[in-house]
Amino acid sequence: MNLDVLTLFPAWFDWFRTQRHVANALELGHTFEAVDMRASTPLNWGQVDDTPFGGGAGMVLRVDVMEAALRERYGVDPVDLREDRRVIALTPGGRLLDDALAGELAAEPALTLLCGRYEGFDERILENFCTDQVSIGRYVLSGGEPAAMVIGDAVLRKLPGVLGKDESAVEESFSEALGGAPEYPHYTRPADWRGWGVPEVLLSGHHERIRQWRLEESRRRGEGGGA
Ligand code: ADE
Repeated sequence: MNLDVLTLFPAWFDWFRTQRHVANALELGHTFEAVDMRASTPLNWGQVDDTPFGGGAGMVLRVDVMEAALRERYGVDPVDLREDRRVIALTPGGRLLDDALAGELAAEPALTLLCGRYEGFDERILENFCTDQVSIGRYVLSGGEPAAMVIGDAVLRKLPGVLGKDESAVEESFSEALGGAPEYPHYTRPADWRGWGVPEVLLSGHHERIRQWRLEESRRRGEGGGA
């Protein structure tokens, strides 16, 4: 997986790249790079945005600036780039990220995430340079950077070998293995704490009964809408 994030704040991702699962992915040969859009702006004084035509509050990321950043990075017309990789604008109104979408993106060889700032993107960026728009929830962030980290985390942990050997992305909340339902409850030692016990079945050592109990709990949580 070759994952690029185009951002005005590349330094935000320095910390993110050191997180264990991301670092594991990098060690396995995957890439996660933050590209500074301001570095390639064709405008003076590092300008990247402008006031909206028609008036109104806020600033809009310019289409010429995005084109320059994508050309600089990939050496092709960004209109054609979409044949080579998914180019995803992070927008509050985009397709909502869920486990299925994370899985779909994890199967791609290459992704580019575009982070907007301020009022967002000039619409021509979305129409002509992007294959998708993705949202991490119906609320407005000050920029796409936290969304890029959420997507990076959700996608990279699905790549084979990225999670440690004691972890698994197969049977976790919203996975196919659990029929899209939330994960079952977990318990660990001590088996009794202040009189709060652990379901007997988990201490029984009976694998099939434990498996059934977990599936049932997961289903029950899914019906209740809980986590
Ligand atoms: N940019 C601003 N808000 C966002 C959100 N909720 N999801 C993705 N990108 C965003």
